[in-house]
Amino acid sequence: MNGIKIRGTGRDVPKKLVTNRDLEKMVDTSDEWITARTGIQTRHHCGEGERISAVTAEAAHRALEDAGVSPEEIGACIVATVTPETLVPSAACTIQRALGLPRDIPCFDLNAACTGFLFALHTMECLLNASPRKFGLVVGAENLSRVINWADRGTCILFGDGAGAAVVECREGWPSVSAVLGCHGNDELLRLPGPEAGEPSYVSMEGTRVFKFAVEAVPWCVDQVLKKTGRTVEDVDFFVFHQANARIIDLAVRKYHIPPEKTYKNIAEYGNTSAASIPLVLSELREQGKIGPGSRVLAVGFGGGLTWGGCLIEFA
Ligand code: UT7
Repeated sequence: MNGIKIRGTGRDVPKKLVTNRDLEKMVDTSDEWITARTGIQTRHHCGEGERISAVTAEAAHRALEDAGVSPEEIGACIVATVTPETLVPSAACTIQRALGLPRDIPCFDLNAACTGFLFALHTMECLLNASPRKFGLVVGAENLSRVINWADRGTCILFGDGAGAAVVECREGWPSVSAVLGCHGNDELLRLPGPEAGEPSYVSMEGTRVFKFAVEAVPWCVDQVLKKTGRTVEDVDFFVFHQANARIIDLAVRKYHIPPEKTYKNIAEYGNTSAASIPLVLSELREQGKIGPGSRVLAVGFGGGLTWGGCLIEFA
């Protein structure tokens, strides 16, 4: 099987910025608590007239531009999301129409919660091996502000909206992303019921227990990806972790003695954007010139499901 590399990235977020001070006026919380416990300072929420479908299409458009790939060259489009604007059509079909992607390709949404982008990368690698077109569009997009329970101060301060996208290319002889993916089948710790579930369609989470799961899942994924690829921590140019809590990232960085210049946090600005968080980081790193052609990035995600995953991603 041939592997994939990322050729271009893009991102977009809604304009409306919600600060911790704004939240102080809405719920019993404080800037100090949120900053100390999560690292979050602001998050973007879709405001009046802003639609996540437009934000998602813009991120995908920017990734195509960055990659220098035209819509006709795309062989598949996957959007990782738990909050598509409409269930049908999927967010991926909406992008297909907005960007003029070919009709004879699979476009679909994928739900693996906060690990969705990595599940989608692996799925894309499989799809492109069977496609005559060698480029794929992998997007993570969320509109979590729509599913916030404002009566729950433990979760309402966490989430943000946004979209990150990557154009990947599949070529003979390129290494696989070597995904390690898994799920616990846990329906208690992190929930977002659908419209027919008979309970409010809000996110709920047992934060402390999910935190404990995350601090175990992250090193497990790092170890498994290194083992699968035969690489060491030193071989990796950048470590990108799902941005759920700055403390979870800091623990992993300390455990592996990762030098500060080899990791990155943007949770302060965006909060937890679930499936969008990893591609948002990748896009910022690429824009800042911190990663580029030849870079090797170890990405780890974890979240509802409970799901977890890791990939070793190379840049073309
Ligand atoms: O993206 C998917 C994966 N998600 C995660 O990985 C999230 C993992 N979990 C977390 O990041 C953390 O558990 C949270 C940030 C959600 C919560 O932090 P915590 O340190 O686990 O806090 P806690 O839930 O144990 O609450 C500690 C205290 C409680 O008060 P008492 O009982 O000690 O008096 C809470 O009521 O903090 C209180 N509290 C707050 N206080 C001010 C909870 N939320 C808030 C708040 N402002 N927003």
